[in-house]
Amino acid sequence: MQSNSGLHVGIIMDGNGRWASSRGLPRWAGHVQGVEAARRATEAAPELGIRTLTLYAFSADNWKRPVEEVSAIFRLFDQYLERETQTCRKRGLRLEVIGRRDRISPALRQRIEWAEQQTARGTNLHLRLAIDYSSREAILRAAETLLRKRRTDRESFSRALGGCDTDLVIRTAGEQRLSDFLLWESAYAELMFLPVLWPDFDRSHLEQAISDFSRRERRFGGLNPLPAPAAIELAG
Ligand code: FPP
Repeated sequence: MQSNSGLHVGIIMDGNGRWASSRGLPRWAGHVQGVEAARRATEAAPELGIRTLTLYAFSADNWKRPVEEVSAIFRLFDQYLERETQTCRKRGLRLEVIGRRDRISPALRQRIEWAEQQTARGTNLHLRLAIDYSSREAILRAAETLLRKRRTDRESFSRALGGCDTDLVIRTAGEQRLSDFLLWESAYAELMFLPVLWPDFDRSHLEQAISDFSRRERRFGGLNPLPAPAAIELAG
């Protein structure tokens, strides 16, 4: 059994488009409901033992989508930060945006900096929004920095990437792939692929995922339970 205190959960929020199409709605309508689902997840997370929640909101490859859809998504990010930052602050959430910032508008960049600064003292949940994010790019940037400092050990590498090993990665809408999300951090993460489309994701799905996670046996390459001699050595 796993202890659930202080978990880092990453979520690949997939299925907004399909949710909208299945209702004869434009894709942006799915993204609007996607923001609501993200709000529900961040509300439930601290009560379920999640200390860090990383939401994959926009991948570096999502720029390939039609410009209208990309613009709608970025408007939603801006609105989310504008409307939710004070609520996040009151609820003790620390907001952080991970990913590139040089390809987004200066206005959004400013809004992100403002939101991060407003919520910097939050201790209940570290909410990381991955925007214009690519894990492979993040790994390359960390490698460049560390090579300059002549440090190539694992600890320094993890720290350069945000120091946050992932315990559980959830992907909604049925696809079973990681799509360039937290590749280094998820080396020993448990993976869960759920059929639910992201706009339909609610507290009960997150509760069920955490409950399933707590029943998984994580061995990190070792054996569980430890064989007697190793256990004795550790106890001593
Ligand atoms: C995945 O669905 C969603 C996205 C690529 C980006 C948009 C995400 C949101 C609007 C949620 C944002 C959350 C916050 C907190 C601001 P998809 O469009 O890939 O769905 P599909 O695979 O069904 O087409």
